[in-house]
Amino acid sequence: MSKLNAAITGVAGYVPDYILTNKELETMVDTNDEWIRSRTGIQERRILKGEGKGTSVMGIAAVKLLLEKTNTAPSDIDLIICATVTPDMRVVDTANLVAKGTGCNNAFTFDLSAACSGFLFALTTGTKFVESGTHKKVIVLGADKMSSIIDYQDRATCIIFGDGAGAVLLEPTQEGLGIQDALLKSDGKGSENLYIKAGGSAHPITVDHVLAREQFVVQNGRPVFKAAVSNMSDVVKKVISRNNMTADDVKWLVPHQANRRIIETVAKMADYPMERVMMNIQKYGNTTAGTIPLCLWDYEDQLKKGDNIILTSFGGGYTWGAIYLKWAI
Ligand code: UT7
Repeated sequence: MSKLNAAITGVAGYVPDYILTNKELETMVDTNDEWIRSRTGIQERRILKGEGKGTSVMGIAAVKLLLEKTNTAPSDIDLIICATVTPDMRVVDTANLVAKGTGCNNAFTFDLSAACSGFLFALTTGTKFVESGTHKKVIVLGADKMSSIIDYQDRATCIIFGDGAGAVLLEPTQEGLGIQDALLKSDGKGSENLYIKAGGSAHPITVDHVLAREQFVVQNGRPVFKAAVSNMSDVVKKVISRNNMTADDVKWLVPHQANRRIIETVAKMADYPMERVMMNIQKYGNTTAGTIPLCLWDYEDQLKKGDNIILTSFGGGYTWGAIYLKWAI
């Protein structure tokens, strides 16, 4: 019998209605539309508004659409993994709230945190449960309400991030399709350049932290940019070559959407043509764990069964990686 693989059999997403434009950001911090577009490629991003609305609101919407599209009964889902750095609460997990909100009452659920690489780490984790034969319908969700941890007085970060969620259904296949390979990495070196100081166990939130605005993301952009480019291009090249392919064999490259210049440089370094690189950063900005499933959702109509696809990400930690899959729908 041929090997049991995990294949993506459905994809869905959700972005909030409110559009935060570069023009509106000009009224909040010392920035301008031209700088944001030319340095990042971002034109607008979505923001989840409303008192008490957390990441689970977007996750529930994405998962409901996924269940509907794939004609799957909620009670048939046996695992939900939610990649996020912006859970609704420290306790309970957002995956648990998503299961409750979508009626997935037979699933065990957990959150996974790997910043912008969260979706790739969660997809690999979900894949293992399917490949082992223990779980047959696994939802992998990448969801972040970045607006909850961004300082809208800090022009170095507030222009970049947005809110959104994307989800995929993983199911077993013996057709040779689905997830073929994953190369995931982390090194801890990013803790000086991309972090939130307060709110964890090292620095539980105090009034002083809040007055110093230390509950928000801090990013030292240039070193993160350099590390993103070199590490993502490295794993993309390695995954292509260790699967005996060339760039010509790969139909789509799906990079984490952090900066259009990073994406273009990675493609160039991997000798990969931009026409086959998925990009939607212009309309959503960086949604952290949401970017890659949101790209798959946006480009779904252009994907064909058997297409070779490489997903790649880089994020806080640092964490990074590349996954090679064959599209199965
Ligand atoms: O997804 C997780 C991983 N994160 C990333 O991959 C992000 C990686 N980093 C980046 O994408 C880029 O470094 C940024 C978009 C964050 C910044 O772009 P940059 O080209 O690296 O700009 P910079 O920080 O080197 O700043 C260049 C200039 C500075 O002015 P001076 O010193 O040259 O006079 C900044 O003060 O641009 C200034 N600047 C701005 N000007 C207008 C920085 N932010 C802004 C702004 N608007 N929002």
